[in-house]
Amino acid sequence: MTDDGAGDIGDLGALPLGHPARRLFALDPEADFLNNGSFGACPLPVTAAQDAIRREVERQPVAFFADEAPRRIRAAAARLAAFLGAAADDVVFVENATAGMNAVLRSLRFEPGDEILTTDHVYGAVRQVLTHLERQHGVVTVEARLPWPVTGEDELVAAVESRITDRTRLLVVDHIASRSALILPVARLAAMARARGLQVLVDGAHAPGQILLDVPALGADWVVGNCHKWLFAPRGAGFLWARRGAQEALHPPVISHGYGRGFVAEFDWIGTRDLSAWLAVPAAIDFLTALGVERVRNRNHVLAMAMGETIASAWSTGLGAPRDMYGAMVTIRVPGSAPATWEAGGALRQRLWREHRVEVPVMPVGDALHARISAQIFNVPQDYRRLAATLPVLAATL
Ligand SMILES: Cc1ncc(COP(=O)(O)O)c(C=O)c1O
Repeated sequence: MTDDGAGDIGDLGALPLGHPARRLFALDPEADFLNNGSFGACPLPVTAAQDAIRREVERQPVAFFADEAPRRIRAAAARLAAFLGAAADDVVFVENATAGMNAVLRSLRFEPGDEILTTDHVYGAVRQVLTHLERQHGVVTVEARLPWPVTGEDELVAAVESRITDRTRLLVVDHIASRSALILPVARLAAMARARGLQVLVDGAHAPGQILLDVPALGADWVVGNCHKWLFAPRGAGFLWARRGAQEALHPPVISHGYGRGFVAEFDWIGTRDLSAWLAVPAAIDFLTALGVERVRNRNHVLAMAMGETIASAWSTGLGAPRDMYGAMVTIRVPGSAPATWEAGGALRQRLWREHRVEVPVMPVGDALHARISAQIFNVPQDYRRLAATLPVLAATL
């Protein structure tokens, strides 16, 4: 392994995607794993790079943390920043997207009555942070209801813009929404919001590795993302990008030695912790780059769309959005009249796994339950057959 955490991953560019790629993962061969979206799946070469980092730390922990760690964290952050199209010192690692969203939202100052605008697709944990701000500062969260099914970007932008008032301070918007898999037009939303005097925080938990990403070009003040979902990194590797001029007020959720010494110093050291996930991000980027960033992205999108359309046709239902508003995840309306609740969706997910060894999330979107399928490099069309056959039968029992 090289000094900046890059692993030896061989010639992956020639590896056919699909079944041959499965040997690169530890996934259960009996299962249909259709949910890369929730927690990712870390490839074995990246796990090996992480293990090597852990062993290196254990050879001389004090020298590693005291002398090596600051430089190594910055080197890994620089690799990630280059992948995101950003300047190295505008990017810091965080534990995960939740930590990044907390860092921004809990660093900002609000007056009672200030409004934070988000959408009804906002991720549940982020909604809880907003609830905390409501209780702590008396802010008001406004959820713009997005049309569903969606036909195009204009109606999404209009739905959000229509909820701006003269009390709105901040727009919190997903890049790719968890429950709907919808790619939101964040650059358009950010331009609109900033023109109306708002600050903009983008929750890009699902974006890195799934879609083409130029973070500064989104035009937001802050962008949060995960490397452990679609970028093949070990879990515990998220990031926060902040525009110059929007860094000074930020503090990590855990205050430590770097307090008051600037954005990078504050976030790079948040107490003694396992740094291996952050330091293995270059190995994950190497892995994706060796496979071909475009090749993986296109192949996963094409597979997700083809499977989504096939299943929707078998179920006589439909997808929630047009092709260009999905990446490597697609949401398909569940047939029948199962209640559109988290409880019903959770029960279906559990039964699919326990009785059929199919892992897929089922969540309410609009007025119906939807199954959200993911396509990752180890998936093949055959993986989606059990889902297509069994979910309608289970849904009819609810
Ligand atoms: C849109 C969105 N935001 C935030 C998160 C939280 O990610 P993490 O659990 O890695 O903090 C998720 C996780 O699925 C998500 O989908």
